[in-house]
Amino acid sequence: MCGIVGYLGKRNAYPVLIKGLKRLEYRGYDSAGVALLTENGDLRVYKTKGKVSDLESFASDKDTTGCVGIAHTRWATHGEPNSTNAHPHISYTGNLAIIHNGIIENYAVLKKQLQEKGIEFKSNTDTEVLVQLIEYVRTRKNFDLLTSVQVALRAVIGAYAIAILDKDDPDQIIAARKSSPLVVGIGEEEFFLGSDASPIIEYTDKVIYLDDKDIAVIRRNKEVEVVDFHNAKMNHDITKVELNLAQIEKGGFPHFMLKEIFEQPDCLRDCMRGRVNVDANNVVLSAIIDNKERLMNARRFIIIACGTSWHAGLIGKQLIENYCQIPVEVEYASEFRYSNPVINEKDVVIAISQSGETADTLAAIELAKKRGAFIYGICNAIGSSIPRATHTGSYIHVGPEIGVASTKAFTGQVTVLTMLALALAKERNTISNEEYLSLIAELDAIPNKMVELLEQGEKIKEISRIFTYARNFLYLGRGYNYPVALEGALKLKEISYIHAEGYPAAEMKHGPIALIDEEMPVVVIATKNVLYEKVLSNIQEIKARHARVIAIVSKDDVTVKNMADAYIELPHTMECLEPLLATIPLQMLAYYIAVCKGKDVDQPRNLAKSVTVE
Ligand code: AGP
Ligand code: GLU
Repeated sequence: MCGIVGYLGKRNAYPVLIKGLKRLEYRGYDSAGVALLTENGDLRVYKTKGKVSDLESFASDKDTTGCVGIAHTRWATHGEPNSTNAHPHISYTGNLAIIHNGIIENYAVLKKQLQEKGIEFKSNTDTEVLVQLIEYVRTRKNFDLLTSVQVALRAVIGAYAIAILDKDDPDQIIAARKSSPLVVGIGEEEFFLGSDASPIIEYTDKVIYLDDKDIAVIRRNKEVEVVDFHNAKMNHDITKVELNLAQIEKGGFPHFMLKEIFEQPDCLRDCMRGRVNVDANNVVLSAIIDNKERLMNARRFIIIACGTSWHAGLIGKQLIENYCQIPVEVEYASEFRYSNPVINEKDVVIAISQSGETADTLAAIELAKKRGAFIYGICNAIGSSIPRATHTGSYIHVGPEIGVASTKAFTGQVTVLTMLALALAKERNTISNEEYLSLIAELDAIPNKMVELLEQGEKIKEISRIFTYARNFLYLGRGYNYPVALEGALKLKEISYIHAEGYPAAEMKHGPIALIDEEMPVVVIATKNVLYEKVLSNIQEIKARHARVIAIVSKDDVTVKNMADAYIELPHTMECLEPLLATIPLQMLAYYIAVCKGKDVDQPRNLAKSVTVE
């Protein structure tokens, strides 16, 4: 959620910070700010509501010199998004500047205590409490900055990644994290800070991923020192980041989302590389080999996730139950964490998360761990918090996803869940050899079929133009395609702000049918599988009520094509793999409708890419 960038070194900090903020824009934010220790020893803070480009305009005629600075994009949780509440926040002496991602949960109590001591607050944020508390400890007790930060953080409840500058000590930045990501980059005589590695990789590939309750002391001409809240030294290896600039740039596409939709064939090839082996006729996931007994003997699986990752989990349930004969439950992480679940060491929890930082999913993992469950993570962001909190896992390897609306991560997650189901089913002997082999061959063929599907982009663009008038959409699917309907509806909501709902097609008659009229387009996934005839009847019911139908149809199907007002053809595949294809036209439909409506596709209003708060 939102972003932190920091720089201390020999360059002018301001351009590095602005560029870094732009690299983090995908995370979602509503205001931006920067604090610089300028050449003449001033602490300068510039902040604005709006985009990083607004901040640039605002600062264009101001002093942006100096080789040390911190910068922030804010996603407001406490206090409206305006320039006063934007970060950095300054302490009451004017000496300290802080930026913060996350939430200070006990801010109200702390604020009251500080106000009683005469400290005045300028903003409505929870963050300002932290900088005032640190300054209060420092001036009252005469502690150095590190000790003051340690004392203050011991009093704070909540989630945070913070960075602090001190006007009187221009050769130092102090940074800390708890439940919110923070990475330190180490260059030649220079240091960087980032919420993830994307603002850093242009300058260095050497990073330290901070852990919870780590405090990093970054000093000019010294090695980075990491300590805990009680000053114990924490040992951290310097990690090499395997991320390149091309991966985080648009590569000729107008939006990251479109680039990511079109990348899916390559992403799935990367995801399956070395795992789906057509020549050896097997599917290999190292996490399954390493934890065979534990996974084979699971009493049940519980999948926990949020949003799109939760939709992938619904497909995972069907795959695992069908092929492995193990019961699976799928839970929203946010509900699970407060549900007092009946769970023990015989259960395996699968946590799915693109960002690997979702606060609800992390908390659900901690709860399940406490109760003895074995945790298997399915994540995309390498080195993020969830892979580090789980017992084992499989990365989806689809590369950085920048568009806030998740696309390639979804198909990557479904692919890993398919591989997991197949590899485990083979071990458990719950799948016939014939089906195992045909699934391997078909999985391998999916990327090429995706390419074929993406070629219908222009047609989908045309269809989208017709349907931009709609204020409501219904998405219907059955079996494996029901979660696809949910995902299609979520995509449309997120980026076009059109209300959309996904339903299992047969549920329509139990309520939603009342909504259907000529103004409510219905997207129906009507591929030729075992439930085809039933979905046909649903289309009749919709047509009888004069709604327009956009159908996702099997290539050779004439019947549905004749009934629908618009259709998109899907290459043939096995039923359980249909979601990997059927999702793509729905992503494109949402994308083009949002573009036609002039919406900000990559950074939709109110949304954040990694939701690191509750
Ligand atoms: C997807 O388009 C959404 N922006 C959102 O639902 C997302 O999937 C959810 O917040 C979970 O994120 P995660 O996969 O990073 O944990
Ligand atoms: N809770 C802080 C605020 O509302 C930080 C929000 C963020 O993570 O950007 O200012």
